[in-house]
Amino acid sequence: MKIHRNIILLATLLLTGLAIAQPTATPLPKIKNVGGHFQLTVDGKPYFIFGGQCHNSSNWPAALPEVWRTMEEMHANTLEIPIYWEEVEARQGEYDFTSVQRLLDQAREHNIRLVLLWFATWKNSSNHYMPEWMKLQPRRFPNAVNKDGQQVDSPSPHCREAMELDAKAFRALMQYLKDNDPIHTVIMVQVENEPGCWDSVRDYSRAANQLFSQPVPDALLKNDILKELGAVKTFGTWTEVFGDRADEYFHTWYVASYIGYVAAAGKDVNPLPMYVNAALRHPFGNPPATQYESGGPTDNVIAIYKAAAPGIDICAPDIYLSGDDNVMEVIKLYSRPDNALFVPECGNARKYLYEVVARGIGFSPFGVDRRTPGSYADLGADYSLLVPIADKLSQWALEGRLFTAYEPENHDVRTLNLGDWEAVLAFGEPRRSNNLPQGPTADASLPATGKALLVKLAEGNFLAVGNNVRFSFRPIGKNKGKFWHFLRVEEGCYDASGNWQMNRVLNGDETDWTGPYVGQKPTMLRIRVYARETVK
Ligand code: DGJ
Repeated sequence: MKIHRNIILLATLLLTGLAIAQPTATPLPKIKNVGGHFQLTVDGKPYFIFGGQCHNSSNWPAALPEVWRTMEEMHANTLEIPIYWEEVEARQGEYDFTSVQRLLDQAREHNIRLVLLWFATWKNSSNHYMPEWMKLQPRRFPNAVNKDGQQVDSPSPHCREAMELDAKAFRALMQYLKDNDPIHTVIMVQVENEPGCWDSVRDYSRAANQLFSQPVPDALLKNDILKELGAVKTFGTWTEVFGDRADEYFHTWYVASYIGYVAAAGKDVNPLPMYVNAALRHPFGNPPATQYESGGPTDNVIAIYKAAAPGIDICAPDIYLSGDDNVMEVIKLYSRPDNALFVPECGNARKYLYEVVARGIGFSPFGVDRRTPGSYADLGADYSLLVPIADKLSQWALEGRLFTAYEPENHDVRTLNLGDWEAVLAFGEPRRSNNLPQGPTADASLPATGKALLVKLAEGNFLAVGNNVRFSFRPIGKNKGKFWHFLRVEEGCYDASGNWQMNRVLNGDETDWTGPYVGQKPTMLRIRVYARETVK
């Protein structure tokens, strides 16, 4: 009897212990579409990815300390980091998720969320992350061939066995996360990496040519899709329907279907948000696919990805091009009613950070580790102000309260209509030869790096953040023609709990010269303005 009672006691203790050891599950991260505006939620709350992506070969124990150091220096809330198929399945059918568990443990220690990048069949168009046992069997797992019958450095999307193996391994990864990540340290997964083909517009193998002569699948023969793709006929073979874009659209359909198959296998066990990233084409002039990576989610084929890969939530642009017009056009092309804007990789796009905050769900520069120490310190100064209010920013964006501007290449003043006030933003580097409050210089030889974000908290009450900008205002709407002045300008920041901490009040020289000026260091202000009645 006593033994029996002891066993019950032991069992109870074990069960209680288990209950304590097992972290409570949190809500699944989601991408919500609220009236055409997308919002990412994590732990059931709005979230914005202020991220950093590490270099390709950084998911190794020896490289990770540098990665975490950079994340801290950047004040990032999310790390994007690859998982290598060749490591996960070094031997066919045996999955090793040591690298995943290491990331989960270390990310939790550093209080950082993860976006995992599944480097598998495609990595920048090639199959360099396929396991070695696959690479060694070129007949079984063929590359695409070009028009001249030459093999190119890109896998054929028509290899069913490779697709099934990729899907099986990916499903195992997602199952591992389901079993070992109930608190959703991993918030999103990228399926493959910049898929497509650089060296040929499509695979011209015998098998591919045979498929190419078939009719276009019904899933693409919808009026809106045909219209978007510029179809010349509503049914028929690829060439009949799509004319001179047929090769590209055919390749895209098969790459996207393959990726859709892999994503669906993973989503089936663990429906985290998933995306595919694009090596962009030039956003103007509809260049031919010979000039970019054919088959990836470039702006002209997003509709094909939506039809072929419903498990993929987002087609995401990797923004390495420069110039205001180009970057803003890419942002526009990827912000669609059926596609949330997410910038998973970028080069020097810091100036457009607020534009993405206002329209999208995340922003991340590439290759943040192993750089000159401090090279991301500048972005860190932006992130340190924004990360504590990532949830608020995401919500304000949804409510249409965010207003943004960046310094145009010609340094012109920009205005923002805020209702009964207009923000007047003069950009530029600090003026140096002036003792009084520094102000923007119109020196055209200096780079245009200024940016500004305003949140309309209430009428005449704004949160303002920016660098190299002077914030001024003009009464409009019901305030039009009235005399106005600043009521109070506070400089400060939000603490980790999202409470406003004022550092000082700006007045006198700091505001009288038509408004507070913030220099190179990103600065946050709370501004109240007042339009006075005229008393005669
Ligand atoms: C884009 C790729 O997606 C990354 O993995 C990396 O190769 C960068 N290009 C390098 O610039």
